[in-house]
Amino acid sequence: MSTTDPDVHQHVRATYARAACCAPTDNALATTLYDEEDRDALPDDAAAAALGCANPAALANLQPGERVLDLGSGGGVDVLLSARRVGPTGFVYGVDMTTEMLALARRNQAEAGIDHVEFLEGRIEDIPLADDTVDVVLSNCVVNLSPDKRAVFAEALRVLRPGGRLAIADIATRGELPPVIRRSLSAWAGCIAGALDVSEIERLLADVGFAAPSVEIVRDYGRADLDLVASSALAGLDLAALPPEELDDIEGRLVSVFIRGMKPAER
Ligand SMILES: C[S@@+](CC[C@H](N)C(=O)[O-])C[C@H]1O[C@@H](n2cnc3c(N)ncnc32)[C@H](O)[C@@H]1O
Repeated sequence: MSTTDPDVHQHVRATYARAACCAPTDNALATTLYDEEDRDALPDDAAAAALGCANPAALANLQPGERVLDLGSGGGVDVLLSARRVGPTGFVYGVDMTTEMLALARRNQAEAGIDHVEFLEGRIEDIPLADDTVDVVLSNCVVNLSPDKRAVFAEALRVLRPGGRLAIADIATRGELPPVIRRSLSAWAGCIAGALDVSEIERLLADVGFAAPSVEIVRDYGRADLDLVASSALAGLDLAALPPEELDDIEGRLVSVFIRGMKPAER
């Protein structure tokens, strides 16, 4: 199977268009990622649409008045939580390429009654915002889905103001995954096959111009987590069909990470 750029964008978009239409009413993921205070602050449909791997708005230590961009905003959960943190003197943009997700996010915004938010249609490899627009770029489990991570990081740097910061939650690998998984478009759309290796992330951030790049491992995926990920409608992987030695090769190799970096201040 090929994982060329157009294939990846098309498959990922189709997967998340389906996910936007059938978010579960009882989303166990939201319970594990967001504390009670954050969940209570969200409309039920926004919490139900959560598809991330952490709570970047909390990890980013957002301050009142800050301007924020969320890459791959999905149903809008992290945009709405960020809007609460930055308050009405701040502003939050969400960018997503899937029309159905944007519609869901805008419905959730209307239900939350929050004005200082805007959802924009576009690709995170070509962000529809001017240079130096935001103080913080967030993302929750989306960069792994992009076929061109270098373009995503370069675009994040471009739209950050000098001195602004990157605060991304994502899935990464630690060591090689079996080729059968790396080649699977379903595993790509399920946030596994496209994951960067922990060792590559800092180098890539430094390459595009971020200062103080860092990667913190916040969660290790054990065998039970893998079964959960694999059986999810998004991943569509049949772990039982893999030879046992390849299964051993996956165990311990998927992690959740928090990625930080700064745009150098102007001299
Ligand atoms: C795993 S979901 C995460 C959504 C949201 N961040 C959350 O935590 O619930 C991935 C989202 O990223 C969007 N996406 C994936 N690749 C993208 C790209 N290259 N450009 C723009 N959006 C993208 C999808 O449409 C989908 O809404």
